[in-house]
Amino acid sequence: MSSLELQGVWKLFGKHPAVKNVHLSVADGEMVVLVGPSGCGKTTTLRIVAGLETASAGSVKIGGRDVTRVPAGRRNIGMVFQSYALYPHMSVYRNLTFGAQIRHEPKQESRERARQVAELLGLDQLLDRRPAQLSGGQRQRVALGRVLMRRPDLFLLDEPLSNLDAALRAEVREELIRLHRRVEATMMYVTHDQVEAMTMADRIGVMSGGVLMQVGTPGELYEGPRNLFVATFLGSPKLNTFTGRAEVRADSLLFRMNCGWLPLPASWRRLLEGLPSDRPLTLGVRPEDWRLLSTLESEGVVGVVDIVELLGGETIVTVAAQGASLRWRVGGKGPVGTGVPVRLTARAECLYLFDTLSGDALATPAGQGLARPVMQLPGAKEVGPLTAKAR
Ligand SMILES: Nc1ncnc2c1ncn2[C@@H]1O[C@H](COP(=O)(O)OP(=O)(O)OP(=O)(O)O)[C@@H](O)[C@H]1O
Ligand SMILES: [Mg+2]
Repeated sequence: MSSLELQGVWKLFGKHPAVKNVHLSVADGEMVVLVGPSGCGKTTTLRIVAGLETASAGSVKIGGRDVTRVPAGRRNIGMVFQSYALYPHMSVYRNLTFGAQIRHEPKQESRERARQVAELLGLDQLLDRRPAQLSGGQRQRVALGRVLMRRPDLFLLDEPLSNLDAALRAEVREELIRLHRRVEATMMYVTHDQVEAMTMADRIGVMSGGVLMQVGTPGELYEGPRNLFVATFLGSPKLNTFTGRAEVRADSLLFRMNCGWLPLPASWRRLLEGLPSDRPLTLGVRPEDWRLLSTLESEGVVGVVDIVELLGGETIVTVAAQGASLRWRVGGKGPVGTGVPVRLTARAECLYLFDTLSGDALATPAGQGLARPVMQLPGAKEVGPLTAKAR
């Protein structure tokens, strides 16, 4: 397997920059997931790595070798696209081994390899079927298997699960996580599903408008976002945000907004004292960090329960407050029904603070040493400090 390094990569389509000065290092065996809204440059970045698109500037290195000018066919990359592009008239077995045949690889070897790959992906009972006789998830696995037959240096996956139903998606997602662990492959995975990103990635790269905004472990990005964009992109329901002002008092700090006020952590005192008092600020509260108070208290946000969404193990409550609508995630069935007035506060050490005008993060839970359970799966590898910059 191989490491990957992008240095100052740009891509212009005519005058339109689709990728702007992307720096990214992916360590050997690491899985980096690129996320971002539609049109932000994820596929273009992947295609540049694959050699299907030429970078307008910058360089691409695979395993330390500069491949910026090396054609796609000589990069030893396995790519899985959203559409599986299987050969419809061939059996699963032929789909798996056809590439090896074209490359004139010894028959015995490719037969043995197909057997291993089929076993790994749970396709061994399906080898005689044609793609039309398979379910979507099974077809997806054949497409993955075809890539595995090649032992590529690098796997590139572009939204490979996007046309599977929710249950299959979860199943294939788990399979991919296990697969990644077993083959210790270097992978770059593109999705706009942030749940996929949070659960699969060693590190996530968040893109917006062609810029790689921030790269870090799921936990780092969730707790220590660099700006409002990253903070609201990761997390579902997303971060609740409120515009308002900070009040610095002799014995307390608080944030005042239309729908109430929230106490701020004492550790923010120096930061807040250094800001102009009229600076417009945005406070962020994760849906899971609300706490129900008695309506007689003065602290907190007051509102009326608008929508209650029962999800089984948890409930998402939407509260209509003055000038805001907030989401609250509660375990179980949730304590309240529609139309009930509520007062909610948030644990001070879980709050996020942003400069409203620039969107830059001023304070985050990560900065306060709060250890949230990191949303990573057991067995995920530790990766060393890696550099990733974006302007
Ligand atoms: N061949 C092309 N010619 C001109 N513009 C292109 C071309 N390919 C992509 N673009 C533009 O570059 C930008 C980035 O596109 P890209 O496909 O990388 O986005 P994406 O992040 O993969 O989006 P999605 O999530 O919708 O797949 C878009 O504005 C797109 O319109
Ligand atoms: Mg795309």
